[in-house]
Amino acid sequence: MKLILLGAPGAGKGTQAEIISEKYNIPTISTGNIIRAALKNGTEMGLKAKAYIDSGRLVPDDVVIGIIKERLAADDCQNGFILDGFPRTIPQAEALDDMGIAIDAALSIEVSDREIVKRMSGRRVCEKCGASYHIEFKKPSKEGVCDACGGALVIRKDDEPDTVLDRLDIYHKQTEPLKNYYSAQGKLITAQGQQKVEDTTKLVLAALSEI
Ligand code: AP5
Repeated sequence: MKLILLGAPGAGKGTQAEIISEKYNIPTISTGNIIRAALKNGTEMGLKAKAYIDSGRLVPDDVVIGIIKERLAADDCQNGFILDGFPRTIPQAEALDDMGIAIDAALSIEVSDREIVKRMSGRRVCEKCGASYHIEFKKPSKEGVCDACGGALVIRKDDEPDTVLDRLDIYHKQTEPLKNYYSAQGKLITAQGQQKVEDTTKLVLAALSEI
């Protein structure tokens, strides 16, 4: 399965991607995680992206398209993949088409802006492996410690309330038009993401079973 996950920042793309990835045994490619890792490692690309990511703005298309081209060429992507956070603009979607990659579906996880703002204030991420938790809805076994790798859980810089509002604005202006783009290709499917994680997963898996 070649799947794109669409949705506002904090809609639960990463959370659901983890579950789908395990069920279908395909890797998740999160441009956000790749860029944050580059930033942490101090690579040239990471340094270029820092100002964008910290302020919640989109990293330039050519940088992100380059990342995706390289990543999709890897062996583990040959049987399918989940794109979490890419494409995010029409030029990025066109670049994916130009690569000759035929996706099976673009799944949009729908959550209201009001719920997003509430959720983001409780998100905690592992500073070592990037795994995502929530202080109320997805608690780690031990407070402040990642279940997967033992790393410390921290607040993402772009989860500050003002930055979240900016990211939502950018989402509506630049990313949401992708729903029409994929709808025109007959590839758009949707799932409500407003409910608890487990309930959202049921809706997501039901939508995927229709492909
Ligand atoms: P990225 O890391 O992709 O951030 P995002 O799209 O803003 O998405 P998030 O990771 O914030 O949210 P999510 O939908 O994965 O939600 P999650 O599952 O964590 O991108 C960050 C930045 O990188 C961008 O701003 C940009 O600068 C740059 N970038 C990345 N890709 C780019 C691209 N293609 N082009 C240009 N720039 C790019 O869930 C959120 C929280 O809610 C968690 O705490 C979770 O536990 C909780 N939660 C999840 N589901 C539920 C539920 N159903 N009920 C209650 N809580 C829930």
